[in-house]
Amino acid sequence: MADTTQRKIRSWFDGPASKRLSQTSVIDPQLPVIVMRLRWPLARHNGPSFFSFLGWVSAFAYIGISVPLRSARTALLPLNHAAAKLPLAHGERFRLGAYGEGLRAYSATIGNQPLSDLAMTALQPFAQNIWTALAPHSFVGLHIGTRLTVIRLSSGKLLLHSPIPLSIEVRSAIDALGPVAHIVCPNLFHHMYAAETAAAYPRAMLHGPAALQRKRKDLRFDAVLTDQPHPDWRGDLELLTIEGCILGETVFYHPATRTLIACDLVENFHQSPHWLTRNYLRLGGILGRVSWHPLLRMAYRDRKRARACIDALLAWPFERVVLAHGDLLTDDAHALVREGMAWL
Ligand SMILES: [Fe+2]
Repeated sequence: MADTTQRKIRSWFDGPASKRLSQTSVIDPQLPVIVMRLRWPLARHNGPSFFSFLGWVSAFAYIGISVPLRSARTALLPLNHAAAKLPLAHGERFRLGAYGEGLRAYSATIGNQPLSDLAMTALQPFAQNIWTALAPHSFVGLHIGTRLTVIRLSSGKLLLHSPIPLSIEVRSAIDALGPVAHIVCPNLFHHMYAAETAAAYPRAMLHGPAALQRKRKDLRFDAVLTDQPHPDWRGDLELLTIEGCILGETVFYHPATRTLIACDLVENFHQSPHWLTRNYLRLGGILGRVSWHPLLRMAYRDRKRARACIDALLAWPFERVVLAHGDLLTDDAHALVREGMAWL
């Protein structure tokens, strides 16, 4: 604001405005007080303008709040990274950074009290050359858990699908099966534990969709995950990317065992010990039923394209399904997925 304009405004407040105010004070003696408060930034503040005053407030807010927060985050990062490299002991409830990297993972862990609800399991066989392990995980306060799938390829090398925090037991069990050659983040949301898994297996290739690689620039990806299998998996796995959905998931099919391996295709919770999660599932009508929560169906932006992909997926004669959230499907799996995705 120019100096001449300021002078005009100040003289108006000190001249005609004051006169009017003294007249109105006969009507309401509180009015001059109110107006005095309104004019305070101009009349009392030594700065050039009210907008400058706002600028100072913003600057102080930035220096006083944002800078300390950023500094604390930066200071904690090395600690988190160091902790992330340590394996979790079985049943361990909490360790700073052990579930990921940076304060993002730290805050996720704070909201991740559910270890008593969904305890970390050992690595369990699911089909020939396929094993799974469940780990506690919360998403926006919901205790939904998350599941790792280990696939042993024909070469004897291992593929880790959807990384989880590795307990000492799970890590030992994986190492006993063979060398880990590939770590796969199958969609845009199953990447939380990729950094620590990649750190645990530095010689393994990290795969993820292109959109995830743009999202997680801190991760060093070795290959883009598409529906074209990597040469190492070509003989073992078939892939299909579900288009029209912001999850961007590529689903895996293991023909030798007729196993479908997915993360966020359907959920299958029969019960939840966590009140909020239980009622979230109940309100969505999917407690005790294989389906996808109505709130999450918004992720499907182009339903026609997505439906075509689901139909292609249903053309696979799978008999069992690995999913990330809920119980594994072993009986009538094909029919359950078909019915669970009938809403699309
Ligand atoms: Fe998920």
